[in-house]
Amino acid sequence: MIKGYNLTNIGTPLKVLFTSYLCVVAVGYMMAFTQILFTHGMADGKFGLSVDDIVYSYYGDRTGTLIENKLNGSMKDMAEDHDRLEIIKWVREGAEESTFESSGVKMVFENNCLACHSSEAGMGLPDFSQFENIKERADQDTGASFSSLTRVSHIHLFGISFIFFFVGAIFVFAKNVPIWLKSLVIAMPFVSQIMDIASWWLTKFDPMFAWLVLIGGSGMGAAFAFMWVVSVYEMWLSKRDDSSVIDEH
Ligand code: HEC
Repeated sequence: MIKGYNLTNIGTPLKVLFTSYLCVVAVGYMMAFTQILFTHGMADGKFGLSVDDIVYSYYGDRTGTLIENKLNGSMKDMAEDHDRLEIIKWVREGAEESTFESSGVKMVFENNCLACHSSEAGMGLPDFSQFENIKERADQDTGASFSSLTRVSHIHLFGISFIFFFVGAIFVFAKNVPIWLKSLVIAMPFVSQIMDIASWWLTKFDPMFAWLVLIGGSGMGAAFAFMWVVSVYEMWLSKRDDSSVIDEH
């Protein structure tokens, strides 16, 4: 770190750059959290994030099928009640291809699901215009698939470490935080992130690990909030410390 420079005395342009970045990342963080509430948060059919949600998302609700569980969870609003029941009934009766069309279930899928669940929709979701993709999910719900876990894991590892590298790099210049605390808070999101992602995989095998997901996620959130508030506070509200600055830039 350049001697003498800290968040209270860097020039205004740099403060504006840092603050703009921190604000956009904070909005991104809130959006990510909202998305978690609407997907994982709904896994047990009730709003709000709980250990059950995490078990259902990664280990699966093994008493039911994935289609039925989703139709009672995050996919609940995608079809009218009677249409949902029609699918559920067909799935419980064995999800036979011979009755797929005659039972009217094919139509329900076409009208309510293909808008997102098809290759044309380009959302990377399972394509329900192919019967085998439906059939596969009419089996016991064993939670997130390996392919979705590897996809989401690598996106998170790269994306989140990138964000926390910059948030940490700004926070490094905080003036009023002891070095031990600063080092701890900078390391925390990276450690939490590894713990969070490792526990998705562990929960896939044993629901016991679901609480680790919550701890990992909370650790990351707490470190983010701390770095954000301290950095913004020092840039705009702390008394300017000019004691060892040579010139402004
Ligand atoms: C507005 C877009 C949209 C519509 C319409 C939609 N889905 Fe989904 N579906 C998603 C998203 C996004 C996911 C991934 C997040 C999740 O699992 O909640 C998903 C996931 C699923 C999954 C889990 C797939 C897997 O392998 O993990 C099933 C099963 C499912 N949807 C069933 C349905 C059914 C049945 C319908 C129609 C009644 C439907 N969806 C309509 C967006 C949609």
